[in-house]
Amino acid sequence: MHLTCTLTCFYAENHGGRLVVVPPRADLTPDVAQLEAAITPRTRAILLNSPNNPSGVIYPASTFVEIEAALSRAMRPIVLISDEPYRALVFDDVVPPEVPPLVTRSIVATSWSKSLAIPGERIGYLAFSPRMPEAAELFEACTFTSRVLGFVNAPALWQWVVAEVGDQVIDVAPYREKRDLMYEGLTRIGYQCVKPQGAFYVFPRTPIDDDVAFVRLLAEEGVLTVPGSGFGAPGHIRISLTVERDTVVRALPGFERAFRKARGER
Ligand SMILES: Cc1ncc(COP(=O)(O)O)c(C=O)c1O
Repeated sequence: MHLTCTLTCFYAENHGGRLVVVPPRADLTPDVAQLEAAITPRTRAILLNSPNNPSGVIYPASTFVEIEAALSRAMRPIVLISDEPYRALVFDDVVPPEVPPLVTRSIVATSWSKSLAIPGERIGYLAFSPRMPEAAELFEACTFTSRVLGFVNAPALWQWVVAEVGDQVIDVAPYREKRDLMYEGLTRIGYQCVKPQGAFYVFPRTPIDDDVAFVRLLAEEGVLTVPGSGFGAPGHIRISLTVERDTVVRALPGFERAFRKARGER
């Protein structure tokens, strides 16, 4: 499993599951050899998210080809859950690979939160690869589980809306412009950062190891970010681009002051 968030942890642990975070490679793509090494007889699923929250990285087809090979070597069936709510929010003509043709035992999980910009409405779907021998059984299990747990029920009104406009996508140009402004601004200051290819986050390395302390330094400069340790990736911060363009521009001097302070250069 790759950069996973605290929320996912609660969902799994509330029901007796245990999440194991596999650190990514330096380019923030999954390290499939490490992932395979983390598989035990108790492993039931691998959870990947691409385009990724918090990094904006899009995993290449080769990642999924390697995962298919690793899963074929596993002692028992393991399902890949491909969490893809940002699939439509991509820049620079990058096309995220389709996962089900590459991974036999795969489930695609998605949401209209991002493509229609309706966060909080909690409407999306699961798609089960028909090539997976357990597809029908898993489908029944998920239908039952969502009824009995009841904490995420697609609102009736939005079921009507997505039936009409579900294939529409908001204009990604403003996100791309803010991505460029933030990425170029941060790298000019000296931050190390993988250029996001999708989603609406930027995920630079922090100039000091303690990402929580660095988030505090930024807050003193009036800039709000989230520590990477909440995503299983300490030493990073997540910056969200769901703000006005002007906010990005006004935040950059704060990013610079905090960077200099952290490195003791006042
Ligand atoms: C990676 C990822 N998966 C899933 C979701 C959940 O989307 P929803 O708003 O439909 O609950 C989010 C929302 O932030 C997300 O970032």
